[in-house]
Amino acid sequence: MVLVSFVSLLATVLFLPISQARPQSYAVWAADSAIVRGQGNGLDSAGLNPVVSYEHGEFQWALRLLYELTGNQTYFNYIQAGVDNIVFPNGTVHGSYTFTDFSQDPLRTGPSFIYLFQQTHQTKYKTAADTFRSQLNGQPRTAEGQFWHKLRYFNQGWLDGIYMGEVLYATYTNAFDANNVTAWADITSQFKLMFDNTLQNSTAPNNTGLMYHGYDFSHTAVWASPDRGHSPEVWDRALGWYAMALVDVLVLAPPNSGELKPTLLHILNVLAPKIRDAADPTTGVWWLVLTQPGRNLNYFESSGAVMYIYALLKAVRLGYVPDPDGSIVAAMKKAYNYAVNNWVVPNSDGTMSWKNAVSVGSLSTTGDFNYYVSQTVDLNDLKGLAAFVLASLEFEQLE
Ligand SMILES: *[C@@H]1O[C@H](CO)[C@@H](O)[C@H](O)[C@H]1NC(C)=O
Ligand SMILES: *[C@@H]1O[C@H](CO)[C@@H](O)[C@H](O)[C@H]1NC(C)=O
Ligand SMILES: *[C@@H]1O[C@H](CO)[C@@H](O)[C@H](O)[C@H]1NC(C)=O
Ligand SMILES: *[C@@H]1O[C@H](CO)[C@@H](O)[C@H](O)[C@H]1NC(C)=O
Ligand SMILES: *[C@@H]1O[C@H](CO)[C@@H](O)[C@H](O)[C@H]1NC(C)=O
Repeated sequence: MVLVSFVSLLATVLFLPISQARPQSYAVWAADSAIVRGQGNGLDSAGLNPVVSYEHGEFQWALRLLYELTGNQTYFNYIQAGVDNIVFPNGTVHGSYTFTDFSQDPLRTGPSFIYLFQQTHQTKYKTAADTFRSQLNGQPRTAEGQFWHKLRYFNQGWLDGIYMGEVLYATYTNAFDANNVTAWADITSQFKLMFDNTLQNSTAPNNTGLMYHGYDFSHTAVWASPDRGHSPEVWDRALGWYAMALVDVLVLAPPNSGELKPTLLHILNVLAPKIRDAADPTTGVWWLVLTQPGRNLNYFESSGAVMYIYALLKAVRLGYVPDPDGSIVAAMKKAYNYAVNNWVVPNSDGTMSWKNAVSVGSLSTTGDFNYYVSQTVDLNDLKGLAAFVLASLEFEQLE
């Protein structure tokens, strides 16, 4: 016994230097590991050129919550350094951002600008946030009013866009324009149109009761269904983005936001039990393509899973979704345990890595099963790792 524990202590000292040993918190460990690797800091993966990236915005959102819980200034400073890499001192957003692309993706870094303005009162952050907000004033829309995902995706609404555009829209309105009832109604409408146009109905084959990745209002995309224009499959991460947006925007909804809160609560309460029920009964986690469980080449994907865990645990904690029998929380705990046992890889330098997140999923080509399963799976994909920090923050608050 003594010898065994001495050997394991030695192993700990050799392979996990005390200064970098795994902290008690997976949220802290995951965030610190990403920081050590220089991820999400407003620069490309080579650390050379500025890049305006939604996954950096997602990671900064997680760091902000971690900062608020721990009070550790390191996290705040990392957010600020990352934003300062993409915002010039005069407030111009640079790097890869192009206003006239009308892409919703870069807008997801905007909540960090607003947060930094609130904390530091430096004008450049407000100027940068104003640029993003004004993009939405000219954002192309479908005849029903849904923002196009990008100018080049004619008439297309994607679930991803709700997380990218509407979290910025709601954060901005909450901070600077709280009495703008038109803006709150518009945000409400973005969520509702996406839900109405992509929810699988009961006659769909392999009905999950969840939402397809996107839709084309003009029904002209190669993937658009002839009846409703939706894409062919339910992709786990698209639904993950949408689910996170629901809880994150609910937190920002003031009493005068009209139908926003009831609409989002309704949608969340429709989706939450369906997400719970779509988990694989053995592992507790979800297939990449939710509409084709168990099909050859389909697999358990890690980013969507941790997005659901974050969204649903937060929804229950804040009372947005009742869970009288505890089955939603129990399902998220089961999934979380699978995640830490299968997707967290301890490294010899004391950091951790995150496995099994798919690199991309886009509706720029066929949007079919073969497309989704042929995309590469990355180690330390920040879209998944940032959501693991978020899921861990929620899981650790259960204890
Ligand atoms: C804050 O976090 C950093 C990075 O994890 C860590 O090195 C530092 O010790 C922490 N500081 C405090 C006061 O806990
Ligand atoms: C803001 O600063 C950048 C970098 O110095 C400069 O290239 C740009 O022209 C400035 N923009 C405005 C509107 O002054
Ligand atoms: C209120 O929001 C609407 C919709 O986004 C926008 O068109 C309008 O300019 C906003 N009003 C003000 C005063 O900012
Ligand atoms: C339900 O979905 C099926 C298959 O996509 C479609 O044929 C049908 O029109 C849809 N029904 C409604 C009411 O949207
Ligand atoms: C339904 O699911 C099965 C099992 O994953 C799959 O083989 C089949 O292709 C699916 N059908 C449709 C129409 O998606």
